[in-house]
Amino acid sequence: MLFGKIMASDGVVFALPNYSFQVSGFMKIFLDRLGFVFHRPRFFGKAFTSIVCQGLFGGDRIVKYLDFVGFGLGFNTVRGSCVTALEPMTEKEQQKMNWALSGQSRRFHEQLMKPAYPAPTLLKLWGFRYARTSMGLLLNDRSRDYRYYKEKGWFESDYYYPVRLGALKKAAGSLFDWISSIIARSRES
Ligand SMILES: Cc1cc2nc3c(=O)[nH]c(=O)nc-3n(C[C@H](O)[C@H](O)[C@H](O)COP(=O)(O)O)c2cc1C
Repeated sequence: MLFGKIMASDGVVFALPNYSFQVSGFMKIFLDRLGFVFHRPRFFGKAFTSIVCQGLFGGDRIVKYLDFVGFGLGFNTVRGSCVTALEPMTEKEQQKMNWALSGQSRRFHEQLMKPAYPAPTLLKLWGFRYARTSMGLLLNDRSRDYRYYKEKGWFESDYYYPVRLGALKKAAGSLFDWISSIIARSRES
């Protein structure tokens, strides 16, 4: 049900408590159920952000983890926020929280207004080229990941979705394919 809702949305916000310096158990189960999407990303064109609520401290690292999760699932990720909201809150703490959340809302809205399918950064391009080159060399039709990449045409495409790469990124992409093939072959032997 949640998967369908995400697919139907333009943007997603994960809001959760900090439990023992990590995401809550419910959130972790949800992420584990989405594990296949880390292998076969598909939430392209959608904005993502997270809000971690906590009593004392430790949530900043959870936000970093969730930023990475958003990236891994294919979202256009907006940096998340951690808010400390232990009752009773002072007026200053309340103001700090409001300020953090209004800044995040503005960034999220800006992301929703931007082109949904931007040219990838070099880091994202590397991630794609490394995944597809190593999968192409190390896996075969028996693997669901391999078949998914093949169905999507990802073994031939520039990136996960149609996008125009400039000359520099085209050259970088070829270089990334080459380096990835060397790394993959070294894992074979
Ligand atoms: C099992 C459990 C573990 C928690 N661990 C932390 C923690 O590591 N750091 C922290 O700042 N707050 C921690 N908290 C406080 C929660 O983050 C805080 O209660 C929650 O964000 C606010 O939700 P609530 O009002 O429903 O309790 C913990 C709370 C529970 C119940």
